Amino acid sequence: SNRVMLGPLVAAIDQGTSSTRFLVFNAKTAELLSHHQVEIKQSFPKEGWVEQDPKDILQSVYECMDRTCEKLTQLNIDISNIKAIGVTNQRETTLVWDKETGEPLYNAIVWLDLRTQSTVERLINKTPGRNKNHLKHKTGLPISTYFSAVKLRWLLDNVEEVANAVRTRRAVFGTIDSWLIWCLTGGKRGGVHCTDVTNASRTMLFNIHTMDWDPELCKYFDIPMEILPKVRSSSEIYGLMKICSSMTSGSLTGIPISGCLGDQSAALVGQMCFQDGQAKNTYGTGCFLLRNTGTKPVMSDHGLLTTVAYKLGRDKPACYALEGSVAIAGAVVRWLKDNLGIIQTSTELEKLAASVGTSYGCYFVPAFSGLYAPYWEPSARGIICGLTQFTNKSHVAFAALEAVCFQTREILDAMNQDSGIPLTQLQVDGGMTSNRLLMQLQADILCIPVVKPSMPETTALGAAMAAGAAEGVSVWSLCPEDLGEVTSEKFEPQINPEESEFRYARWKKAVQRAMNWET
Ligand code: G3P
Repeated sequence: SNRVMLGPLVAAIDQGTSSTRFLVFNAKTAELLSHHQVEIKQSFPKEGWVEQDPKDILQSVYECMDRTCEKLTQLNIDISNIKAIGVTNQRETTLVWDKETGEPLYNAIVWLDLRTQSTVERLINKTPGRNKNHLKHKTGLPISTYFSAVKLRWLLDNVEEVANAVRTRRAVFGTIDSWLIWCLTGGKRGGVHCTDVTNASRTMLFNIHTMDWDPELCKYFDIPMEILPKVRSSSEIYGLMKICSSMTSGSLTGIPISGCLGDQSAALVGQMCFQDGQAKNTYGTGCFLLRNTGTKPVMSDHGLLTTVAYKLGRDKPACYALEGSVAIAGAVVRWLKDNLGIIQTSTELEKLAASVGTSYGCYFVPAFSGLYAPYWEPSARGIICGLTQFTNKSHVAFAALEAVCFQTREILDAMNQDSGIPLTQLQVDGGMTSNRLLMQLQADILCIPVVKPSMPETTALGAAMAAGAAEGVSVWSLCPEDLGEVTSEKFEPQINPEESEFRYARWKKAVQRAMNWET
């Protein structure tokens, strides 16, 4: 057969909260050649609990690898052109497994999970002045249900298998990146137990100044340090692919896994936000606005997180970011579909909302997992308000889209206040950006243009770039001059700022009603 001649290729595993993808890029042109995506299950065993089966997650990665490799073969592209694999993942989601058997000892506790709310409240009450920012000087983070430390604490306290495995020195902790890299590099037969600095910075056990696990933080949460993965940079060879699930993906065996970044960091890289001041907003399950602050960690006075943006090589400096995290964005669409049944597929939402073009005074605060930035209020709960006899499901659909935009406005405002230099446009990406109504609404509510790259898979691209640029792989250059122009689409604000302000002020009132729901 006629093999298509291409330069080196780089693949990425993108393991998000709602779906898993495997994608293959051309390292010279950044062109996406082939990919496959599968939705992954979430379970809600109790109110506020969100879990995923680590085996399902791994299986979904294998399935995506198999299908993508089949597609490449059909395109006459030789899989042996793939020179490296990058991993990017939903952050904070926590699991513990047995390194002798390779078996997870409990489901993964997803970042959105609220079971640790009482633990968090207890911890905050114990701090001097009931200060949720008590650990912020080291971690950049408020004490919250969001981060891994409290989830791991819960597993140690509530799952006997976990406690036993710690006692017998068989337990290992990891976020999803660690789990996948360990499994793919051999699992119980020599798998590599590591994480990268970006994922580590979301655990609350990591000191973002020393760039290492912090014994004091581990003591604070009473976490045995021997179960933690080794922390590496975001771009270096961690190990080689050993385990594949089929003949086709078997040809991936031996390829280095050489990139690892939490998904929001990967999107920042994929959007080429390498300069101090550059920012992007990703609309996934949640919504995350990150602004690069260069090699200095900047502490927020407005409820944003300070996080490690990336460290692209063992000898490269770490760069930091300010982050505004919104828990519920795409998840509200899934909720309207799965819980209310007012749409059959996610894409129907745009049509439904567009059919009315207004929420008619209805406001929807989807505080399903409490409120994240800038409030950090775990006891907030979702509300839909401003209803009249006239309100119908289209208005609720519209209000759901507006909620995503208002939440972004809140974190953008905080970002502008912290940095003193307002963003003049917003670079966006993620699944929801295919919703054109949402993009237009976002520009209207921010009163600045919204810019969307024409290649939407920026998260995977960032992980592929990190993998391809790693020492010993070196097929992808990260020099700005070598990174070609990115084509994009721009949405300009179309309503007048007064109207925008009026709606935003109403939204803020609705947020106040969603706060402190339980007290
Ligand atoms: O912090 C959670 C975040 O990494 C999840 O991203 O894309 O799955 O919403 P996403």
